[in-house]
Amino acid sequence: MSDHKALVLDEVRKYHQDVQPDGGFVPGVTEIWPSGAVLDADDRAALVEAALDLRIAAGASSRKFESAFARRLSRRKAHLTNSGSSANLLALTALTSHVLGDRRLRPGDEVITVAAGFPTTVNPIVQNGLVPVFVDVELGTYNTTARRVAEAIGPKTRAIMIAHALGNPFEVAEIAELAEEHDLFFVEDNCDAVGSTYRGRLTGTFGDFTTVSFYPAHHLTMGEGGCVLTSDLKLARVVESLRDWGRDCWCEPGKNNTCLKRFEYQMGTLPEGYDHKYIFSHVGYNLKATDLQAALGLTQLAKLDGFIEARKRNWRQLREGLDGVPHLLLPEATEGSDPSWFGFVITVAPEAPFSRAELVHHLEERKIGTRRLFAGNLTRQPAYIGREHRVVGTLANSDIITEHTFWIGVYPGLTEEMLDYVISTVKEFVEKRG
Ligand SMILES: Cc1ncc(COP(=O)(O)O)c(C=O)c1O
Repeated sequence: MSDHKALVLDEVRKYHQDVQPDGGFVPGVTEIWPSGAVLDADDRAALVEAALDLRIAAGASSRKFESAFARRLSRRKAHLTNSGSSANLLALTALTSHVLGDRRLRPGDEVITVAAGFPTTVNPIVQNGLVPVFVDVELGTYNTTARRVAEAIGPKTRAIMIAHALGNPFEVAEIAELAEEHDLFFVEDNCDAVGSTYRGRLTGTFGDFTTVSFYPAHHLTMGEGGCVLTSDLKLARVVESLRDWGRDCWCEPGKNNTCLKRFEYQMGTLPEGYDHKYIFSHVGYNLKATDLQAALGLTQLAKLDGFIEARKRNWRQLREGLDGVPHLLLPEATEGSDPSWFGFVITVAPEAPFSRAELVHHLEERKIGTRRLFAGNLTRQPAYIGREHRVVGTLANSDIITEHTFWIGVYPGLTEEMLDYVISTVKEFVEKRG
């Protein structure tokens, strides 16, 4: 490293110390965010170093992150993307590829998903001309069950795509078995659950694909970013092609002739020897991330175990502190799971003497941030009304979530003192109103 660079990075670390908030926690004044990035001097220095090196596009840091992250999540291949939503789009779109022959998903095929969740778990289904089949979830775990998924399988069903709700694993082993039995593709949206396990095995290792988000609310952050992971090398190649403009060539940017026959291909009706770098075998996108993002991802990844521990510890503190508070349904880990929590979900009992709006207002006024369980019942959102879909059973619990559920934070930036304040603030409200 040059002396000048070392000097700059040293100054960056000092600057990091300068800008650390020095005030302690002041109840009712200090914001208690529901989620946020936890960034240290290493993260700041990594970003600046990538900038000094002008690593402005996807390159060596992206590849390094992909290998390290694939290893960490026990998958053979990881492809970095510009968001978790892009990762979901790539995973599902890959299942429509001609490379899969007769197994490929075709317009009109059904994909089972849940009604209560994040929109971009479902959007790729619609965007690919497929039909979402919505099942309900359970209150408490906020996940669907293998039984509900089994009931939803019909003659046109070809895939399952579900997210682990706010870090809590769904019955992923049983649903993977169902997928296998019925020859269905299975995509696990693991955006909120990195580090969770089900029956001792990491979530994200059961499906054909798993996806992750690196938006600041998530377990690791790159600012914006995401990842598609798979252990199926054929599917991995399709994801790479779709992510990188649809090209057939797999040379890294700035590299040529990795396959050693760059000018020897004949595809489509192109002339013999057309440059493989410019042969497009998929109708693709450009959903790549940059090395600036990957550089941050690498320093964040080094802290993942600590982040996961903090999320679990914070969740436990809230769970124990709020246990027994009347009129509130507290979250439960899915049986057999060890969640790496994303948030702490609370449902106000529909018959409670106060409403969700009143409790949320009480918390927000005291600087305790709240969030909804994303879109609630997606079929009630304006974007989805009138779109082709199928509903299996009722969506009664998804409706309860839409009307009575919210979540508060457990991210590693929260302290024991902050969470004690959250607990006492909730209790104070319920005692007064209950
Ligand atoms: C379950 C789930 N899937 C997908 C996404 C989309 O990720 P991104 O915001 O990186 O596009 C989110 C975002 O929070 C999410 O919670």
